[in-house]
Amino acid sequence: MPTVLLTGATGYIASHTWLALQSAGYDVVGVDDFSNSSPEVLNRLHRLGGRAPVFERLDVTDAEAMEALLQRHRIDAAVHFAAFKAVGESVAQPLAYYRNNVGGLVNVCSALQRHGIRRFVFSSSATVYGDPEHLPITEDARLTATNPYGQTKLIGETLLRDLGASDPAWQTAILRYFNPVGAHESGLIGEDPRGTPNNLMPYVAQVAVGRREFLQVFGDDYPTPDGTGVRDYIHVVDLAEGHVAALRRLLDQPGSLTVNLGTGRGYSVLEVVRAYAAASGRDVPYRVTPRRPGDVAACYADPALAATLLGWRAQHDLDRMCADSWRWQSQNPNGFETP
Ligand code: WQD
Repeated sequence: MPTVLLTGATGYIASHTWLALQSAGYDVVGVDDFSNSSPEVLNRLHRLGGRAPVFERLDVTDAEAMEALLQRHRIDAAVHFAAFKAVGESVAQPLAYYRNNVGGLVNVCSALQRHGIRRFVFSSSATVYGDPEHLPITEDARLTATNPYGQTKLIGETLLRDLGASDPAWQTAILRYFNPVGAHESGLIGEDPRGTPNNLMPYVAQVAVGRREFLQVFGDDYPTPDGTGVRDYIHVVDLAEGHVAALRRLLDQPGSLTVNLGTGRGYSVLEVVRAYAAASGRDVPYRVTPRRPGDVAACYADPALAATLLGWRAQHDLDRMCADSWRWQSQNPNGFETP
């Protein structure tokens, strides 16, 4: 079976994708610099996957390290997750984001090209749609970036399209994630943000488990059913399966693609709070505060193209997302930090 290189391999989405790829029969070589993940994830992947992960610690912006890696391993395709992803942080530290997200992508693709590896799955984001003009969002919607993080994803997509135009041997799958949440059903791996979580569900999880006093609901005066922000939450295991489906297509037939990976269903902040309280049996106290700058009222996908091109659809609903998130959080109150 083909061997797949995963960058950012011990991160939240990549670690779940690692398991899905192994279950689908692929061999995996993972790389990460642990700048935003824990080595403990490798122990958990060993327990869940039943074999020692093939892993190397490296920084994707290090050209020599990438070259040496591809000298040591025969790779058939790559899934590139390695990137910084905090919107607010990207506004404060744009150079770090362009260096890591764009510089890292250039370095990885350059190394792959030198070794004749041209099947590439790219982790993009619904953030490239900015404030959507129409809902649900289709892949031909207007693209715009409202922050440096989003700009790095837009540039990444443009780079891959230019690469494909320069050399048709390149086959790329650009996957635009909506809002990844939840955790593996074992409760052994899950989302473990460093410091204060930026995203809704990990913050709610930390309130439910008692690490945080209450949730701030960033505005309840949006033009949505209950006034709070609406998003397309997608279970991380569904997202992982979407990567397997994309890879299978790249390996099975010629051509490149860009698809949304979402459920097509939007949920409000308060719907998530209620669902999480029900799943955890815990109170989730909250206080309504002013809107967060840069937030949009509503954002959810039209998932039809992924269903057509990949034969993939999200399977898990919000209750399952909350239940799996809670199992991970309650079994690992301090994330991957071993007590
Ligand atoms: C969801 C909703 C908030 C936290 C971001 C990035 C995007 C992608 C996913 C990487 C919104 C509300 C949140 C809180 C709240 N990341 N909220 N209190 O903003 O849709 O997307 O993460 O690719 O690029 O922009 O996700 O989880 O931050 O917010 O009320 O403490 O929850 O206002 O309505 P978002 P989010």
